[in-house]
Amino acid sequence: MLWRSLVAGCGGYLPARVVTNAELAKTVDTSDEWIQQRTGIQERRFAAEGELTSSMGTRAAQAALDMAGMRAEDIDLIVCATSTPDETFPSAATRIQAQLGMERGAAFDVQAVCAGFVFGLSVADNFLRLGQAKTALVVGAETFSRILDWDDRSTCVLFGDGAGAVVLRAEKGNGSNSDSGVLSTHLYSDGRHHDALYVDGGPSSTGTVGHLRMEGREVFRHAVVRMSEAIDAALEANGLTPGDIDWLVPHQANLRIIEAMARRLNLPRDRVVVTVDRHANTSAASIPLALCEAVADGRVQRGDLIMTEAMGGGFTWGSALLRW
Ligand code: ACO
Repeated sequence: MLWRSLVAGCGGYLPARVVTNAELAKTVDTSDEWIQQRTGIQERRFAAEGELTSSMGTRAAQAALDMAGMRAEDIDLIVCATSTPDETFPSAATRIQAQLGMERGAAFDVQAVCAGFVFGLSVADNFLRLGQAKTALVVGAETFSRILDWDDRSTCVLFGDGAGAVVLRAEKGNGSNSDSGVLSTHLYSDGRHHDALYVDGGPSSTGTVGHLRMEGREVFRHAVVRMSEAIDAALEANGLTPGDIDWLVPHQANLRIIEAMARRLNLPRDRVVVTVDRHANTSAASIPLALCEAVADGRVQRGDLIMTEAMGGGFTWGSALLRW
């Protein structure tokens, strides 16, 4: 018998303020039609003044704990995936730890941009598999609205704010693909692609926070190929085929990328969880937010096989396969 990470609960948090494409078009040279046609995005949420990555992450984490029937003091480890922490240091994870009222365990951030949740899940899963922790919170939380350049219409319309979280609990499994919980994670990065997607500021370069810069076409071109490879690796490692997948819960960057992934897997549209229309791209928060929505509305049932995939700046990319 081997330790496995069972997903004991999940939770999401979205800021109250809804910003529609039409509202953006009042101040940005864009249109609802352009944004919807190119991306599938209709609206996004923006954090209120004073609302921070850590406060949103804490709300999502608390919701995940509630669903799991656990308390903050039951948690051994917090891994927060974010590229938009409250401060350069300390980590958003330690802020979340304090806000949850936790006085024990370890907390740290993982930074893999839009692939952050898959990276964070992988790190926490490995802690649990090795017995270094029995329980973990994996949080994805972002305030991308604060690093957007409002004079760059090719990027500022694409992102939103929010947070999602899962609680993992170590359980013994038989090591087969019928186990519940995280079956595998596959992570990749290739730093040669820095210039395609980055933020032009930071503590050691400019001393400023900077703004997001992206060559959209270049990112698009790599995204489908790389994420498909990561999915293939996950299926092969578990002796499964695309036909075994019950739900694709992809990173939510662009509806055209999501549809291309679904076509490749031959998955019907109603087996793909889509939130990009209402959330836009919330980076590391997008997968747990989408997962929580599909769990909350009853689409995802115990025993279902869920494939997640993501790609982000770096480039970083990967997949995680789990049985709910
Ligand atoms: N409104 C109106 N027009 C716009 C806008 C806008 N918001 N943005 C760009 N345009 C114009 C451009 O100026 C250009 O006009 P021109 O032909 O007169 O020069 C035209 O639209 C086409 O611009 P492109 O950038 O070539 O448009 P494209 O079809 O590539 O779509 C997009 C851009 C949506 C960014 C697309 O490339 C994309 O989705 N890429 C993936 C990027 C992504 O999702 N990144 C997220 C982070 S990484 C990840 O999560 C996977």
